[in-house]
Amino acid sequence: MIVVRLDAGGFPETSQGSLRHAGAGGPAAARNANGRADKREKRTEEDWRGHMILRSVTLAAAILMSAGASIAADSTAVEKDGTIWRDADGNPTYKIGDDGIPDYRTWMGYKRYTGNCMPCHGPDGAGSSFAPDLTASLKSIDYEKFAEVVSSGQQNVWHPVNSVMPAWGTDLNVMCYLDDIYAYLRGRSDGKLGRGEPKRPEVDKQAKDDAYACLGF
Ligand code: HEC
Repeated sequence: MIVVRLDAGGFPETSQGSLRHAGAGGPAAARNANGRADKREKRTEEDWRGHMILRSVTLAAAILMSAGASIAADSTAVEKDGTIWRDADGNPTYKIGDDGIPDYRTWMGYKRYTGNCMPCHGPDGAGSSFAPDLTASLKSIDYEKFAEVVSSGQQNVWHPVNSVMPAWGTDLNVMCYLDDIYAYLRGRSDGKLGRGEPKRPEVDKQAKDDAYACLGF
């Protein structure tokens, strides 16, 4: 499975390597997103077989994990790690104050979701005729699977034909905010965040600076 973390310099790093070298870095790398369609067409039969083997391994791992009932994990925020809240298992999560205001990273997740994912997955993660309802998906996929699908893409699982989730692995506009988007969708999936823009928290300057560093500004 591909796990994405930020390296010491705030760059996303996957188990396949650091995105620091995925292009010129910064906004230029973000524009690489369109290059991937070509690669996919050029995929040889051998590549495809390798891909299918990988997929079955991933599936086996997913089945094992569901046996441990760890997927519908408790979203309660137990610890703030830098600017992101984490649950007891260390996965990114949201924290909503008594005033109904979420933490900054969760609110940012709403913004980034709306900018990048909404065109297909619909407003507020609720799904559309193009792409699945992510508030439902998050009940059955865990953080690692989420990170893997967003980084590497997925095809024809939700619908058997022409159902393509693009790979965002080299798009810093998504990867620098992966945890934010996850935290937001988790809050939506748990019914703790309603539809529309969540109440706006105070700006977390550190989170903003970290994100800009990740984007290469
Ligand atoms: C061009 C349209 C499009 C965009 C933009 C898009 N997705 Fe998707 N996404 C899809 C489609 C279609 C699927 C279903 C793929 C399949 O059938 O395997 C999907 C599947 C997924 C899944 C897996 C759901 C499941 O239950 O298997 C996740 C998670 C996901 N998308 C997250 C995102 C996030 C986060 C973003 C924004 C960064 C995003 N998507 C942007 C089209 C899109």
